[in-house]
Amino acid sequence: MRQNLVAGNWKMNLTYPEGVALVSEITRLAAEAAAGANAPEIVICPPFPLLHGVGEQLPKASKFHLGAQNCHQKESGAFTGEVSAKVLASVGCEYVILGHSERRQYFGETDELLSQKLKAALAAGLKPIFCVGESLDTREADETFDFIGQQLASGLFHLSNEEFAQVVIAYEPIWAIGTGRTATSAQAQEVHAFIREQIARAYDAQAALDTTILYGGSANAQNARELFSQPDVDGGLIGGASLKAVDFTAIIQSF
Ligand code: PGA
Repeated sequence: MRQNLVAGNWKMNLTYPEGVALVSEITRLAAEAAAGANAPEIVICPPFPLLHGVGEQLPKASKFHLGAQNCHQKESGAFTGEVSAKVLASVGCEYVILGHSERRQYFGETDELLSQKLKAALAAGLKPIFCVGESLDTREADETFDFIGQQLASGLFHLSNEEFAQVVIAYEPIWAIGTGRTATSAQAQEVHAFIREQIARAYDAQAALDTTILYGGSANAQNARELFSQPDVDGGLIGGASLKAVDFTAIIQSF
């Protein structure tokens, strides 16, 4: 179901006590906003060892949810150092980020591997936050739409209608991630509208209308309202600004 959503991707930051302190500050500051009629769903995605402790700070039956940043494609087995979707679900995760550009770039994650991870996440009952986005070279070569169309077609659109209904998409232009150079709201809207068109083609018009599509890449307390006011932007996947309780709370209040 389409809904406003803000996800904080903490990446490889914060120790356990720092993470617990941050999330308790966020839930305190954002308590009122999270209880309001316009409140978005709020997903906190800490590093694996912090999941349980951070999850314990989230008020039950509220807009706050726990998410992970990655999972392995197999349910269990001899994969030293890896974490399965089933284990994530067992510690209270409801979401998992898949296909983040840092995973694609630094860990060689391909569309084929991501297809398997998506299946594993869905089988464990997790909602994938599936990331797509072009590099600066691709944008400057005027190939953004082709590139994102391809990422969607080969990474995501193999899912059944029922499976796809569980997926959140995040558009994250690589040139905007952690650079302070955000996409303009018009650039974000244009790509989000394109993604919705592709969903309508691959599934149907209703599926396109029902999909939550987030923007990510240097979104912050100053630009969130403008970005989220675009008709096809349903919220944000927030990196740097999710590590500051005041900023993240302001983003939650930006609808
Ligand atoms: P950023 O990261 O907000 O720090 O640009 C976003 C992301 O990578 O999800």
